Amino acid sequence: MKITLMILLIFVIIFMLFYGGYYLIRPSQKGEEILKDLNLPHPTIIAHRGASNIAPESTEAAFIKAVEMGVDYVEADIHRTKDGKIVVLHDSNLKRTSNVEEIYPDRQNNHVNTFTYNELLKLDFGSWFNEKHPNKADEEYNNLKIITLERLLEIAEHGKQSTGVVLDLKDVWKYPSIEKDIIEILQREKWYGKQRKSSKELNDKGNILIFSFNLKTLKTFKELAPSITRVLLLNQNMLSIRGWKRWLDLAEECSHGLAVKETLTWPWNLALAHNRKLFVFPYVINKTWQLRIGAHINSSGYITDRPELVLRFLK
Ligand code: G3P
Repeated sequence: MKITLMILLIFVIIFMLFYGGYYLIRPSQKGEEILKDLNLPHPTIIAHRGASNIAPESTEAAFIKAVEMGVDYVEADIHRTKDGKIVVLHDSNLKRTSNVEEIYPDRQNNHVNTFTYNELLKLDFGSWFNEKHPNKADEEYNNLKIITLERLLEIAEHGKQSTGVVLDLKDVWKYPSIEKDIIEILQREKWYGKQRKSSKELNDKGNILIFSFNLKTLKTFKELAPSITRVLLLNQNMLSIRGWKRWLDLAEECSHGLAVKETLTWPWNLALAHNRKLFVFPYVINKTWQLRIGAHINSSGYITDRPELVLRFLK
């Protein structure tokens, strides 16, 4: 009798472990619905700094390549020059991706916002790529210029299909009212608020996504341009300061989704986000094994330097 009871108990424990395990790792299916309500494709493919694995990041060449591949969005980091132009650049200074050392040797560590737009135009943002990646080098990359937000919108609009644009606002504490400046440009270029220039049918929500690590910036966009989709960026450091649930509380107040660094979030974390109607994009996804996991957990999107790989995988 005792043995029968023991065996029964072991079976119950095994069943509970399996069922509990499955419950934790089963993929949430709600992401697709959340994206649909926001007029976003599932999964959303976002080219991080353009097709930045095969062309110099954040340049016209990288964005044109990504648009031609047919990505859903190109992602661009945003700064403001000393004379108020909104330009595309990832880093806070110009050292890594330009020849600033040669042209302005005394200013190589200076913040990009200490340069005027005309000063930035004297720099070459492509040759570093040819030197660093001789196997991917292309003469066309020599002497590529910094681009403005207006030029980026033009590139996105003139692909075979209208490509969306993700704007990741960098160093916002250095740029008072940059949110207002961006909204003004989007309105002027008919990307927000009015009828679009192009005849291609997309509504406001699908065209521009605002990404930020800064909750205040997202709240400002919510106030000034509520129909633009907003995404809270999280990195490992932020996640070690506050837990996932606390970030979800904060994200719920100002954003429609999250983009999470390096890791494909655990399925149970995804489910928690989806239950609050927040989608989750992982960044940066450049490897096939990551895509396999992404497919298994039904990832809402992929932010990638290698859109060619992601598009091939998803096909
Ligand atoms: O798209 C997310 C991304 O822009 C944030 O990361 O590394 O490009 O600043 P990072």
